Amino acid sequence: MGPAGALVLFGVTGDLARKMLLPALYRLFARDGFDLPVIGVARTGLDLDGLREHAREACGGVRDAAFDKLAGRLRLVAGDYQDPATFARLHDEVRDLGALVHYLAVPPSLFAPVAGGLAGVGLNRDATLVVEKPFGHDLESARRLNEELLHHFDEDHLRRVDHFLAKEPVEDLMVFRFANMLLEPIWNRNYVRSVQITMAEDFDVSDRGAFYDANGTIRDVVQNHLLQLLAILAMDPPPSDDARAQLDEKWRVLRSVKAVQPGDVVRGQYDGYLGTDGVRPDSTTETFVALRAVIDNWRWAGVPFCIRSGKALPVTDLEVVAELRTPPVSLFGGRPKPNLIRFRLQPDAGVSFDLLAKEPGRQRTVQVPVSVDFTKELGPMDAAYERILTDAINGDPRRFARFDLVEESWRIVQPILDLRDRPLPYPKGSWGPEPAARIAPGGWHEISTKFD
Ligand code: BG6
Repeated sequence: MGPAGALVLFGVTGDLARKMLLPALYRLFARDGFDLPVIGVARTGLDLDGLREHAREACGGVRDAAFDKLAGRLRLVAGDYQDPATFARLHDEVRDLGALVHYLAVPPSLFAPVAGGLAGVGLNRDATLVVEKPFGHDLESARRLNEELLHHFDEDHLRRVDHFLAKEPVEDLMVFRFANMLLEPIWNRNYVRSVQITMAEDFDVSDRGAFYDANGTIRDVVQNHLLQLLAILAMDPPPSDDARAQLDEKWRVLRSVKAVQPGDVVRGQYDGYLGTDGVRPDSTTETFVALRAVIDNWRWAGVPFCIRSGKALPVTDLEVVAELRTPPVSLFGGRPKPNLIRFRLQPDAGVSFDLLAKEPGRQRTVQVPVSVDFTKELGPMDAAYERILTDAINGDPRRFARFDLVEESWRIVQPILDLRDRPLPYPKGSWGPEPAARIAPGGWHEISTKFD
């Protein structure tokens, strides 16, 4: 598949386009080489000049050559997604532009109608369909949605966005694991006692009450972002660097993850959540979850992968901590603390090893961090949406979620979706309900909020 000739952006006046896609496009246009027609589609009263102004505001009110280039490439098809006339107009607009990428920044209920509308005018040929998350609401609905989309686009021309996959630090986990010989020999049940993944956010659901209440933490970030992260952490080395080899290995490891059982989960809801606009007054939706996943394979049997995530926690941070087993014999007074390997992914990226050194003047050990701050060492990184758009246009599938991976992720969380019991309350700014501490063997390691 060569690079696409044009980008069709459904939902060009919506929230996601305003916050993420238009600014990312602008940054891409600001770089040499990125220059293709962008056809916005939306149900809007704006005309093309209005759309250009809207885009300018989305990009921070910029006035420069890069924005002028983007504005010059913008086109608009205004109309209803259920109306075949909209697609007929789009058809005329994209005539002779070559292969197309249709990016659906619209609610999931519109994925199938838009795919059908495109197929109705033949715009599913020589074209890729990109859909945002969530992909389905559970295993069944994900399968149904997939079948509907497959009527019009085959798997090779379908891209399911999981923006975590496009984050450089997330991808760096794979480089760190498979480009260094340091880690791989010990990256298994013989040396690793547990792996903890924390995705904490210090803000609450704010004005997303209705969306959040229909989903909850497990659907919002565990089924997709955090299980993808787990797959990258736990997968075997792919046999080659092609996209399919990577996706196959991720699928293989997710296949080995047992469906999470309710006894291995603690759900929480922050105090005050029920008063949020759009939240049902008796809602049992979780705003926090801590769970233990079991990977039943030769590499990881017996090593718990613990995941916790929530809103209104003390910090905003994404971090993985692998705890190594302790030496079999203790020579330096008392039981030594375990070595920890920390991958910090957000807000700043880097890696840190908690090693043991001799405490000066004493015959005992003390834990010392050995850290690298990737931003300091390597410079700034591209934002996730820049990479998503570039990959979609270049036809690279590796940083998207293939359906078999999505299916496995839904299978893994299926038993803990929609649990009837009331989530445990927790105060805003805390680490969730107290019993969450027992999900991780020996408790959760304190996360490092920044590099020194
Ligand atoms: C989204 C979730 O997918 O990811 C949000 O819907 C969450 O609830 C967000 O806040 C986190 O993404 P990022 O890139 O800001 O860490």
